[in-house]
Amino acid sequence: KIKETADHLGIQAYLVGGFVRDLFLRKSSQDLDVVVEGDSNSFANQLIEVVEVHKVVQHHQFGTVKITFRDGTHLDIAGSRWEEYDFPGALPTIEESNLKEDLFRRDFTVNAMALCLNANRFGEVVDFYGGLRDLQQGEIRFLHNLSFIEDPTRMIRAVRFACRYHFKIAKVTREAINTALQANVLLKISKERFTEELMLILPEQAYQKMVRELAAFGLMKNWFGREFAWNLAESEEEVKDWDLEKKWLGLLISLENDEIRAVLDRLAFTKSMLKHTLDYVAVRSKLRAAGDCPQEGYAALFGVKEGIVDLLKKHEDLRPLIESYQQALQNLKMTIRGSDLLAAGIPEGPEIGRILQDIHLAWLTGKISDFEEERNYLLQ
Ligand code: CTP
Repeated sequence: KIKETADHLGIQAYLVGGFVRDLFLRKSSQDLDVVVEGDSNSFANQLIEVVEVHKVVQHHQFGTVKITFRDGTHLDIAGSRWEEYDFPGALPTIEESNLKEDLFRRDFTVNAMALCLNANRFGEVVDFYGGLRDLQQGEIRFLHNLSFIEDPTRMIRAVRFACRYHFKIAKVTREAINTALQANVLLKISKERFTEELMLILPEQAYQKMVRELAAFGLMKNWFGREFAWNLAESEEEVKDWDLEKKWLGLLISLENDEIRAVLDRLAFTKSMLKHTLDYVAVRSKLRAAGDCPQEGYAALFGVKEGIVDLLKKHEDLRPLIESYQQALQNLKMTIRGSDLLAAGIPEGPEIGRILQDIHLAWLTGKISDFEEERNYLLQ
């Protein structure tokens, strides 16, 4: 349909960016980026008429349209554009230009290839900057010297792509990263943009390798203002089923509470990531304070997700208490449910949760050990 729309309007349309790169690497990608040499808004409007879409977001000012299809695939349409950065780290302002210039404004040669979609040139590869050569040689190479000055997040992207594809960062590009870091350009980006890049690293299989590489460049120290002992000791096999929250908290386990707070100060996390991190710090502190007292320790662990309990177990001093909690959980035969409490006339609300937690803890600490004692405990 893209092809038909482009031909119908008589404008050139190209697939560009990550999709083309991944096509040559024989990897699948759910994100399609299309650049049209002409008016992207009218192209998008025509396309929407002939394809079934789930959601459309149109930015007239940038001339970009984001389409989401029912199967979750995304299609970004842009006019070939000239990005001007008002100052390092700023979002670009857009002017019209042609494909060659559009591609030159991108981050790396491997991301700066295009595939023509029009019928008469369908599948023709446009590779002005040696993207195919770098894909074959396994190198991440910038397109021009000012790349990292214009957009410092590209330093993080370079490491992300290199580790993801087991590529090397080309020597000139590595040198440019070092120069940009020495000039502190990274500090010009907002906490939001840095956090966004960090959140793009966490879903990656090789995220630990990426953090190690970023630290080796001195980029982590540059951003956070000091060196931190990120925990990068887990095997890829172990972390393969970890969710983002667990991966993030796993990086922090060797850090003290004040260090974790200093890290959070340099990030602009979503409420939920912030809460997960602060909860983790709080539970860890409570467990440390609990010492040998199971009552306090078990109360601290109550309701904590299994994955996070697993992380806490990596602290040797906390492990015995957590193991005894897990043992107690296995032996737990609690029968009372919220519905029993409602039937007994306790009004719906937080009180029910409190009573259930109380009974749960009494089971865990051995104050209740059978059904009879459970009934009696409730009657007290
Ligand atoms: N791009 C860029 N500079 C950036 C971000 C993006 O030049 N700071 C360009 C690259 O050409 C990239 C394209 O915009 O290929 C799309 O960006 P994005 O979707 O972030 O990257 P992908 O290459 O698709 O990477 P991923 O596989 O991680 O989605």
